[in-house]
Amino acid sequence: VLASTPVDLQTLLDEIAAAAPAQAARGKVADYIPALAAVAPERFGMALATVDGQVYGSGEFREPFSVQSVSKAFTLALSLAREGDALFNRVGREPSGNPFNSLVQLEYEHGIPRNPFINAGALVVVDQLLTATGDAFGELRAFLRAETGEPALDCDAVVARSEAEHGHRNAALAHFMASYGNLKNPVEVVLDHYFRQCALTMSCADLARAGLFLARHGVRADGSQLFGRSEAKRVNAILLTCGTYDAAGDFAYRVGLPGKSGVGGGILSVLPGRGCLAVWGPALDRSGNSVAGVHALDTFTTRTGWSVF
Ligand code: DON
Repeated sequence: VLASTPVDLQTLLDEIAAAAPAQAARGKVADYIPALAAVAPERFGMALATVDGQVYGSGEFREPFSVQSVSKAFTLALSLAREGDALFNRVGREPSGNPFNSLVQLEYEHGIPRNPFINAGALVVVDQLLTATGDAFGELRAFLRAETGEPALDCDAVVARSEAEHGHRNAALAHFMASYGNLKNPVEVVLDHYFRQCALTMSCADLARAGLFLARHGVRADGSQLFGRSEAKRVNAILLTCGTYDAAGDFAYRVGLPGKSGVGGGILSVLPGRGCLAVWGPALDRSGNSVAGVHALDTFTTRTGWSVF
């Protein structure tokens, strides 16, 4: 795996981390949840976990941060593993071209969210996992603990409460879908699991290791299959086309990898067959993607030649 790259990976990660703080000035830290607004914009970390189990990192790659929507990559995978393609009767899989929290499209499309990564779609995925398991957040947390080997991995209760207190738009999306019969569990319960999922605290090293099953075509850390090669391909495809919202085209153009961003400034990106990258830089562009993170991934894939294209 590593022999095929012409660059020294640690040197490259260190160069990227050194250049990252200058990128932060082009963005703005999310302020719609007070608990997120307090983070300094120029912080940065980056980790690479390879399919053969090595972890490289630079900057604050072991520093925990709020993963926010990056968690949606994992809930989609867990939901698909249980439900299969039937999930797509309730949520689409096309890019939205709209902001992640948009209400407009949902009305045009009769309460069926465009894809599983916009907030409305992620709420449907949580609802399905709740029905299937009785405890969607618990299922997600157990999965992430197993994949990272971090038994204390958890959500930040202060962030989760802050999300709930400022969650009028998510509540509106959830109630709207309930009015179309596209939520099976009570709105308050779905929102509670969704807010805790977003408030999960993980480092770049944790995220990169947790995402490895997507690089290993469905094979988990313990060697078991979460799902088959086709399902892993499908999750990666939706990550590529929908994982960075209305900037998914630009992300594919610049980075050339499946990826999922979150408003905490994290991005998880998959190198199928090779490994997983995770970056963290809290300053965001207008679509809600980390400016330093996208720049770092762009540099990484350009210098290594590793992309899906
Ligand atoms: O639903 C929200 O508003 C947040 N908890 C998560 C949003 C998010 O991270 C979107 N990503 N860029």
